[in-house]
Amino acid sequence: MQIVSTMRKMSSISDELRKDGKTIVLVPTMGYFHEGHLSLMREGRRRGDVLVVSLFVNPTQFGEGEDYDIYPRDFSRDKGLIEGIGVDILFLPAVEEMYPGGYQTFVEVERATKLMEGQFRPIYFRGVTTVVAKLFNIVNPHMAVFGEKDFQQLVVIRRMVEDLNMGVEIIGMPIVRERDGLAMSSRNSYLTSDQRKAALSLNRSLQKASQLFRSGERNPGRIIEAVRRVIEPEREVTIEYVEVRDVKTLEEIEIIEEQAVIALAAKVGKVRLIDNLTFREE
Ligand code: PAJ
Repeated sequence: MQIVSTMRKMSSISDELRKDGKTIVLVPTMGYFHEGHLSLMREGRRRGDVLVVSLFVNPTQFGEGEDYDIYPRDFSRDKGLIEGIGVDILFLPAVEEMYPGGYQTFVEVERATKLMEGQFRPIYFRGVTTVVAKLFNIVNPHMAVFGEKDFQQLVVIRRMVEDLNMGVEIIGMPIVRERDGLAMSSRNSYLTSDQRKAALSLNRSLQKASQLFRSGERNPGRIIEAVRRVIEPEREVTIEYVEVRDVKTLEEIEIIEEQAVIALAAKVGKVRLIDNLTFREE
């Protein structure tokens, strides 16, 4: 595994690889790896000739009062975790190189970013699309892999790639969960053991939604109500939103037809968690 920490070096390696006809796959991350990240890397490994993983805690996607300063960072742990996966290049750009003095350009997807997460994290997606566009320009990958854990992020990135003709194939991968059902997240490390127990209500509520869907319920309002009833008794958990939406546009729907996503966000103590599930006709 080669460690590359400058943009110029990364771009020149990528140019050479493209000249040799190699397929480059990028997995963008902010580090503190867990099985969710590793599943994306394995898929990337399988799909391309060269697997590039970027690790960059992107300051522009964290709002005022969010956890940028304390976001978990542990490079030697991360390096150990990805041994054996077959990562060819670990790209670690520096904040000063990504956003030098005078930086003033941002990429904004207008509509899909105003919904759901956008209501609670107003600058988040602008930071994500900007950094992902920059990474695409630097690494110039043929494909990039993202997780459905951040379902709205995936929708927004697909929109950006299509709207700006970026020519990168976007691959979405299913949510990886802990054995007890909690969706893996770098932020789970903030939870106390009591909070972690309370956090299980999120997945439990989605299981309830899935059960209702399988028994024929197609009314979003009734499903949302049932989900809220599972979470609300947990004293430490405060729901921010529970929404049933179209899988491609994230717009509201009146009735679930072939596919829909149920997505939620909640605070467990001070820790903000998100989770979702896609309804599909069998
Ligand atoms: P990060 O939170 O590190 O996540 C990196 C990738 O891992 C994202 O595509 C995310 O959806 C995926 N992921 C996280 N938890 C997962 C899980 N439990 N199962 C499957 N995939 C999971 O998302 C970001 O970083 C940043 O916003 C980024 C795209 C890198 C831009 O800065």
